[in-house]
Amino acid sequence: MTFQQIDCETDDASNSPIPIGLDDIQVWGILLEVTDAELPHAASILSHEERARAERLISEGYRRRSIAAHAMLRMLLSRYCGESPKQLAIRRTLDGKPFLSDYPSIRFNLTHSHGRALIAVAQDREVGVDLEKVRPEVDVVRLAKRFLSERDLAFIERGEPAQRHERFLQAWVAREAVFKADGTGMTFPLNRDYVELTGDGTDGCLVLGHGACDGRKRPVRFLPLESGWVGAVAAEGTNWRATVCNWGVSQVKRGT
Ligand SMILES: CC(C)(COP(=O)(O)OP(=O)(O)OC[C@H]1O[C@@H](n2cnc3c(N)ncnc32)[C@H](O)[C@@H]1OP(=O)(O)O)[C@@H](O)C(=O)NCCC(=O)NCCS
Repeated sequence: MTFQQIDCETDDASNSPIPIGLDDIQVWGILLEVTDAELPHAASILSHEERARAERLISEGYRRRSIAAHAMLRMLLSRYCGESPKQLAIRRTLDGKPFLSDYPSIRFNLTHSHGRALIAVAQDREVGVDLEKVRPEVDVVRLAKRFLSERDLAFIERGEPAQRHERFLQAWVAREAVFKADGTGMTFPLNRDYVELTGDGTDGCLVLGHGACDGRKRPVRFLPLESGWVGAVAAEGTNWRATVCNWGVSQVKRGT
């Protein structure tokens, strides 16, 4: 799965809508790059609130990426809703999770990191997605001892040294994806839950270890990203599959 730029210039809601099944979670990898020439148009697609949030960011790089992320999110969602990107009403829950107030059956979630983003789209089920960049300089065993559960630590330490960063991030993004699907955002402490991988390691679950949820398994799919990135998607329920999608100039290609 590669990260691709979404063209923010072609603002045409009459493009054919992207079909999505009830058991399908469609995931898009996005490159958050806009040229100086594209920036004013990208900013013009945003809501007043989105522009104001971008303006509050101190770094020019963060501002550009924030504008790119929200413009590209609107471009993509417009293709599901058949509405112009600018007209889409995107609101937030009290916990901050964005949603489409006029198209309640189209659910989505966004994650961005170091100039890349993932957008997950679902129909009639809540969805969460998270993306992290591998940072080899971080002592992941120390972080796992401090924040994660003993089972996660054992999972990380069982890996070869070169695998440990990816395993640490799998434990991290699985939590973020599940909690973002639930709309709560990361829920601390993190040491009550643990991650289990199944099959070839692309599927797994977050086993919840607290209160009434004790022992409940929440399915997670790890995404086949470029080397150096770890991402996961989670959704409400169990009977769903994740599909990786590609943005084309004239067509939308889908593959697994
Ligand atoms: C909000 C939160 C989910 C963002 O996660 P992150 O890894 O920093 O950033 P990501 O790029 O993955 O996700 C950010 C996007 O998630 C979405 N989002 C925000 N709040 C959300 C929520 N409650 N549920 C689902 N999605 C949410 C937004 O689209 C946001 O992007 P935007 O602000 O540009 O619109 C995360 O910060 C969090 O869990 N916060 C609550 C817990 C916390 O901060 N505790 C700190 C005390 S130690």
